[in-house]
Amino acid sequence: MKAIAQARALLSAARRVVVLSGAGVSAESGVPTFRGPDGLWRSHRAEDLATPQAFARDPRLVWEWYAWRRDVVARCEPNAAHFALARHALAHEHTVIVTQNVDGLHAEAARREAHAAGSADASRAMPLELHGSLFVTRCTTCAWRRDDRDAVDATSHETLPRCGWCGALARPGVVWFGEVLDETVLGRAFAEAAVADVCLVVGTSAVVHPAASVALATCRAGGRVIEVNPDDTPLTRHAAVTIRERAATAVPAIVSIGRSGSEVTIDRMRVGPGS
Ligand code: OAD
Repeated sequence: MKAIAQARALLSAARRVVVLSGAGVSAESGVPTFRGPDGLWRSHRAEDLATPQAFARDPRLVWEWYAWRRDVVARCEPNAAHFALARHALAHEHTVIVTQNVDGLHAEAARREAHAAGSADASRAMPLELHGSLFVTRCTTCAWRRDDRDAVDATSHETLPRCGWCGALARPGVVWFGEVLDETVLGRAFAEAAVADVCLVVGTSAVVHPAASVALATCRAGGRVIEVNPDDTPLTRHAAVTIRERAATAVPAIVSIGRSGSEVTIDRMRVGPGS
């Protein structure tokens, strides 16, 4: 397939790579996407529940949704796309994974790949999690937060998680619509994107900003975008290469080779998007 060969060529010549992933990268692990046919939870859309207003109105309902998502994800394994990306990032100092996902599967793949390579250090392949994590709980009032894989009892307001310091209601450690993303994480993602030769975009509908703008930062600075998605997105027209395939098939095929050498770089200005 020509697009696969083109993507491989771009990636093997790139010195710096940013990966921007979304829910589609985890679809083949069994994690439901937000906007696909399985995107609704009961009759609720993500946009209706993932907001501070929804939590203020009905924290039990919102916690119930997150408890369900935690439970689903806890039974999921990283797939071939997560593993291939983790291997690539471990092997290449200048590959950074930026994800909108809160499922922790990139991190799990990073730990397993590092372990398989005989190292306890997975840090190079740990993702920048723009939207936080399902497995963090934090206080609605103070700075308390903790890693948390416990089952949540959302049967009543009284059973919901509470802050370990002040006793106030706790909330999921994710970023909701209308909330500000972590400045440090976002800043690093954009800084990396602006100097990347290639932004590999995998499995995102690219409709949520600022996350989707990470790819545009690479584009604006003269880098190339490779998109892996069975469907069109607003980023498609910016992509130099579009691969209409599922992540677990396409990603291992395009990142399986090593780079030809750090001195080999793409001529970022010579070849424009879509060529
Ligand atoms: P979406 O559910 O909006 O989009 C998933 C994308 O993955 C779609 O473009 C699908 O075509 C594509 N897709 C589906 N299966 C795939 C597969 N096997 N391989 C590759 N691609 C596949 O998910 P996101 O773009 O991640 O934010 O959504 C962005 C944000 O909106 C989320 O982080 C979340 C959500 O509401 C917050 O909660 C703040």
